[in-house]
Amino acid sequence: MIPTLEWTNEGVRFLDQTKLPLEETYLLATTPQQVATIITTMVVRGAPAIGVSAAMGLALAAKSATENSAADFAPSFAASCALLAATRPTAVNLFWAIDRMQRVFAELLASGSSMAAVRARLEAEACAMYDEDIAACRAMGAFGADLMPDEGTVLTHCNAGALATCGYGTALGVIRGAVERGKRIHVFADETRPFLQGARLTAWELMADGIPTTVLCDNMAGTLMRQGKIQAVVVGADRIAANGDVANKIGTYTVAVLAREHGIPFYVAAPWSTIDPATATGDAIPIEERAAVEVTHHGGKQLTPHGVGIRNPAFDVTPARYVTAIITERGVLQAPYLSSIAAGALAAQ
Ligand code: MRU
Repeated sequence: MIPTLEWTNEGVRFLDQTKLPLEETYLLATTPQQVATIITTMVVRGAPAIGVSAAMGLALAAKSATENSAADFAPSFAASCALLAATRPTAVNLFWAIDRMQRVFAELLASGSSMAAVRARLEAEACAMYDEDIAACRAMGAFGADLMPDEGTVLTHCNAGALATCGYGTALGVIRGAVERGKRIHVFADETRPFLQGARLTAWELMADGIPTTVLCDNMAGTLMRQGKIQAVVVGADRIAANGDVANKIGTYTVAVLAREHGIPFYVAAPWSTIDPATATGDAIPIEERAAVEVTHHGGKQLTPHGVGIRNPAFDVTPARYVTAIITERGVLQAPYLSSIAAGALAAQ
């Protein structure tokens, strides 16, 4: 399995995704500050992977702490939570993971735990989240495989694969699940300007699995849909509002509208931790605006004239009406999403 991130005795080991596909190198983080930098610089990215990374960052905070008790460590733990929460605003998994670690820490604090107990418990919680993420991806793969064509081409956007999770992937997990069932799937991977997650990462990890893959420039999907060359679309999500509106990598909305125009199903695969019942609609989802240099330059080479205006919103929102189904580890949700999401949340209680 692709080692996106891994808890080790020395610290958290991250595959450096900024170097892929040309170099497979790793970075070791031993402090929450290093994990925060690793998230902001996109060494690790993808909503579920960001969430588990933050949880591991908090476990590292405890590991490297010099305080003697949960009470003494509390201010430093709170500072680490704030630091990690400020890394990327859109993926709700980040806040979900930090909340979960905060709840565990509150129990340790209430029971007057020693630092040894805090270290052990926070490490165990972060590692449990890692294992749960892989299990959720495999469950999504099994549910989503039914929705994939027995034979045909599936378009995906960005990277919602093993590299965006702790392993197996969400959208790419669905594709892997279909291939494991003997379905003959060819993948079209949108290159995903400006950070090229599709061209660099999706292509790299699917090729490693021997799944036939073709990279498209982002502006090619429409014409290929019109020619009947795409049978389904499956993408991941960074945050799903209570009404089923989906925030995902910039360009996803365009793909969804094109899919509707051409009568092609548009599926979203995401773990339950990506669903944000506290956000009523997509309009309330914060959209990260990233540095202009990601658009103006590529590989250190300038592409645009000095001084030109640049926009770089990293995500867009696809209204729920374009989403054929949402594939989760609890099953496949259908519209109206307000009620199917509420029912899924209730069933898990
Ligand atoms: O900016 P990124 O690379 O973190 O954006 C990633 C995406 O948009 C993914 O599609 C999303 O996080 C789902 S990952 C399973």
